[in-house]
Amino acid sequence: MPLDIRYRPRRMRRMDSLRRLVRETALRSEDLIWPLFIQAEAGDISIESMPGVSRLGSASLLRACEYALELGIPAIALFPSIPAVLKDDSGTHAFDGANLLYSTVAEVKRRFPELLVITDVALDPFTSHGHDGLLSSNGKSVDNDTTVEALCRLAVLEAAAGADMVAPSDMMDGRVGAIRLALDASGYHETAILSYAAKFCSAYYGPFRDAVGSKIGKDTISKATYQIDPANSREAVREAQLDVEEGADIVMVKPAGPYLDVIRSVREAVPVPVAAYQVSGEFAQIHAASRLGWLDYESARDESIQSIKRAGADMILTYFAPEVAASLR
Ligand code: PBG
Repeated sequence: MPLDIRYRPRRMRRMDSLRRLVRETALRSEDLIWPLFIQAEAGDISIESMPGVSRLGSASLLRACEYALELGIPAIALFPSIPAVLKDDSGTHAFDGANLLYSTVAEVKRRFPELLVITDVALDPFTSHGHDGLLSSNGKSVDNDTTVEALCRLAVLEAAAGADMVAPSDMMDGRVGAIRLALDASGYHETAILSYAAKFCSAYYGPFRDAVGSKIGKDTISKATYQIDPANSREAVREAQLDVEEGADIVMVKPAGPYLDVIRSVREAVPVPVAAYQVSGEFAQIHAASRLGWLDYESARDESIQSIKRAGADMILTYFAPEVAASLR
């Protein structure tokens, strides 16, 4: 005897064409931002904890940019890897207008003006201690206000090099408003700010720190003194609201997968587009489990990104960007 039930949700799951018809979210290559690591050396260096990802020399980077455009990926985010000899406590090399980051941005924009270039505004690639900012004079904390001043100079140099969007990833207070003023004062009204508004103090950044060499020692200041406690979601929404008030054009939640609830809350709380960063550790864990044969690589990858979109992200930074875009073609 058939059950006496009127609604049978399975009716809509019966065949692929029907499932496609009622699918609520669809990923597009236009949703993706491709983070790329760059280095001054010509040969590429693969990153062990991020299979398939390398620090790229200039020639490979330009090939990657061309590939992004071919795949319909609208934007790249650049992360420089700086040799230890060029690092110091105050990140002096960051302010050399001819350094790897600025020269690369300029070259990419010269060759591919239609590709959107995003640069991180943070000192961690350049500081010997690996912090995103400057230390206070007693060395016991990352000093907010002097860091914000430095970040403003950094953002202006990035804009001058041609960056379309600057992305403060440092979590200092008041930096979005200060950076907006600094950009405007230098005539860069068109340069947008993508704020890492809700950046959590996460274990999932490990492979990234391998990639750019910004590991911080266990005995030094904790990034927990400026990044958000993973236990907090109201605080994350507040951070996003503050950044919107200060002039952020887009706000970001980072990491993405473990913080889907935060993506949803931020999406509902602010009127600007929301980005989510599927970080290095999220990428690494999918690779690691599939290498062990414990997860199916492609379906776990696609599900992880689909979920971030479903949670409410308008755009997703992910190291999977090129292969996902290729699979969408
Ligand atoms: C630092 C920065 C980090 C990431 C992007 N920008 C790491 C950190 O805060 O230590 C992490 C991205 C990733 O893990 O993929 N400015």
